[in-house]
Amino acid sequence: MSDKSSNQMWGGRFAAGPDAIMEAINASIGFDKRMAAQDIAGSRAHAAMLAAQGIVKDSDAEAMREGLLTVLSEIEAGEFAFSTALEDIHMNVEARLKELIGDAAGRLHTGRSRNDQVATDFRLWVRDQLDAADAGLTALMKALLAQAEAGADWVMPGFTHLQTAQPVTWGHHMMAYVEMFARDLSRVRDARARMNECPLGAAALAGTSFPIDRDMTAKALGFDRPMANSLDAVSDRDFALEFLSVASICAMHLSRMAEELVIWSSAQFRFVTLSDRFSTGSSIMPQKKNPDAAELIRAKIGRVFGANVALMMVMKGLPLAYSKDMQEDKEQVFDAADNWMLALAAMEGMVRDMTANRAALEAAASAGFSTATDLADWLVREIDLPFRQAHHVTGALVAMAEKRGCDLPDLTLEDMRSVNDQITEDVFTVLGVHNSVASRTSFGGTAPVRVREQVARWNEALR
Ligand code: ARG
Repeated sequence: MSDKSSNQMWGGRFAAGPDAIMEAINASIGFDKRMAAQDIAGSRAHAAMLAAQGIVKDSDAEAMREGLLTVLSEIEAGEFAFSTALEDIHMNVEARLKELIGDAAGRLHTGRSRNDQVATDFRLWVRDQLDAADAGLTALMKALLAQAEAGADWVMPGFTHLQTAQPVTWGHHMMAYVEMFARDLSRVRDARARMNECPLGAAALAGTSFPIDRDMTAKALGFDRPMANSLDAVSDRDFALEFLSVASICAMHLSRMAEELVIWSSAQFRFVTLSDRFSTGSSIMPQKKNPDAAELIRAKIGRVFGANVALMMVMKGLPLAYSKDMQEDKEQVFDAADNWMLALAAMEGMVRDMTANRAALEAAASAGFSTATDLADWLVREIDLPFRQAHHVTGALVAMAEKRGCDLPDLTLEDMRSVNDQITEDVFTVLGVHNSVASRTSFGGTAPVRVREQVARWNEALR
């Protein structure tokens, strides 16, 4: 053990230390130091349990507790010297603990392995991120709700194929995202509930002969229960994959919304004005105000998808139980989590700060014959045409308006009657965009009354 060239944790059977390349490929301390707080929490729970079970002396456990707190404060203060030779966060912490409290530190690893230790640390880390995502999604939904409430009856074009389809309300469009992010939030909560079991005490893979109390450590770490199979506990990373899957779906939603903001903030659309706080200028074109945050959300999302695929690839060929391949789980998840949280926060800020341009939305809503379906529906309802025939009559009127370069409400009653002589003056009541949206009162429809109901429901749910 005194031989510096050989490892202080397993130097017993090693005559030589590792090659520099071996150390470089093997070490994870460069990134897993992000789990320091979780590692120390796990060790504290384990130490307290060892003492409670009479496996180590109370005085040793007390020394471990104090020593671990010192290590944590050193790390938090940025005073800790991380060592690549000590490979990972687990051995860095333990080695420092030994410097601080001496031989008692060597008893901490009783009935435990780095395999259950890393699985525990990583679960705790991912759990924290799920909680952060929960808060981020809730904040974003609140920002969307505020937009929806303000513009529950503002009209805008609804699109299919990015072609004007039917008028919808601004509030309805905002609430569509509330529904999407609400499902993301429910996936976050499902994932958290499923992953909240404790691997600690699975030891290397088979459990341990020491009389440990796994319920005690699980409870101390806020887990619902210990994991029931030691092989599974140390060798699955499905919780991280579920995190990445949930993150990917949410990221896809964020990216679609980002894409809409990019389009909507363009001079051609002018549907929204993004705040200065969430825009950038151009170094050459003085008129420019660019939606960079939206573009970066759209782009960063690729990392989240990439991490999901990469970790699937790491895991898919591994026999039970632990393999070192699994050390490659962390960087992917860290990077995805960082970018997901940033994207959530940036989207929340953009939505909170943006101004919807009511007049531009309304002008666009009436363009493109957006009430053609209302006209066809009127023909069905009022003069009992079969829908297919009504569609045909309306198509002819749209063609007429297009040829004249005007909108449907600009056609005269004579024009209308030239296509179908049963049409009456009453038809004009359905050609306006406000009437159009107000008429769509079916459950889930775009009518302001329905939108306000949904806003109220979600305001209540998020309170
Ligand atoms: N740094 C390792 C990891 O992240 C810890 C577990 C190492 N276990 C082992 N048997 N080599 O996976």
